[in-house]
Amino acid sequence: MPMPHRALITAGGRGTRLRPLTHTNNKHLIPIANKPMIHFALEAVAAAGIREAGIVINPDTGEEIRRALGDGAAWGLQLTYVMQEAPLGLAHVVRCAESFLKQEPFVFYLGDNVVVGGIRQFLERFQARGDQCHLVLARVKDPQRFGVAEIAGDRVASVVEKPKMPKSQFAVTGIYVYDSPIFEAVHAIVPSARGELEISDAHQYLLDRGYRVGFSEITGWWKDTGKPEDLLEANRVALEQLLDGTGPVVQGSVDEESDVAGKVLVEAGARILASQVRGPAIIGADAVIERSYVGPFTAIGARCHLRDSELEYSILFEDTAILEADVRIERSLLGREVIIRRCSGRPKTQKFILGDQSIVELC
Ligand code: G1P
Repeated sequence: MPMPHRALITAGGRGTRLRPLTHTNNKHLIPIANKPMIHFALEAVAAAGIREAGIVINPDTGEEIRRALGDGAAWGLQLTYVMQEAPLGLAHVVRCAESFLKQEPFVFYLGDNVVVGGIRQFLERFQARGDQCHLVLARVKDPQRFGVAEIAGDRVASVVEKPKMPKSQFAVTGIYVYDSPIFEAVHAIVPSARGELEISDAHQYLLDRGYRVGFSEITGWWKDTGKPEDLLEANRVALEQLLDGTGPVVQGSVDEESDVAGKVLVEAGARILASQVRGPAIIGADAVIERSYVGPFTAIGARCHLRDSELEYSILFEDTAILEADVRIERSLLGREVIIRRCSGRPKTQKFILGDQSIVELC
């Protein structure tokens, strides 16, 4: 069987669990280490030798995605945009992309899954084992949130979508490798109780018909970024991977009074003035950090401004300001053009999840 040379990547969805950030931003464009999340998917498929990718968009946010990804040349990919008119499930996504996929083997990658360690090994295993469907599994503590696979030897025995009583700890991640029987499956299944054509039902269909469904257990780090805490954790892991060396890389400027330590990337035009920055962290282009503390696992977007403030373990989108905040801001996600000012008093640390253009002022 040939190695898959096409990928199908989802970039639609409503991101309801990430509101208010997703009221104004497509979830897939939320920055992780100052890069839109979906870039990680494109990098992973490109590194696996894929050259053609279908990007599945929806009518609401499709244009935003097209603008962000263009023709894919930046990743050495040729992109084709595939419209899913209504959110009818992941098996429906495959149906929508049938003419792009041409009944040939492909990798299906959910664009909100962040993986460290690449995906090439899964494509190789799919091919070496002669599978018709290859699922990438991860052991998790909360399998009821996912599709759950029951394992028998080196095969998958059953797959159930979000079971109340999971039969194993193995979540089916958002990375799947398929041969042509998947097209039969996505046409045969019927909508679930929530009205969607479930990808897990397509997998169970393949099992019921005796097709070879194999699996790999993910070895690197993986996250389905459904909730705010997942984004912060993905950001943490991406920042740890960001720089090869241990010390800072300064493309902008750091003044004499500042102390920048550990894996810190200060992007072009960014200025660190009389501040402490402890990596891993990234300070976006043209940002200004004045008399402030930036702690580990923080990604600060382009043109943000921190003045007399403390920030740690957080993601700031672009053009956001934290000014004279008298509390330590932690585990926070701040959208674009947010302003937090003079936020004082108790408790000493604060956690915020604020949509674009929010203003918080506490006196
Ligand atoms: C989808 C799939 C589920 C899978 C998960 C992985 O769920 O339906 O089987 O485990 O992606 O990210 P969703 O995130 O759409 O609820």
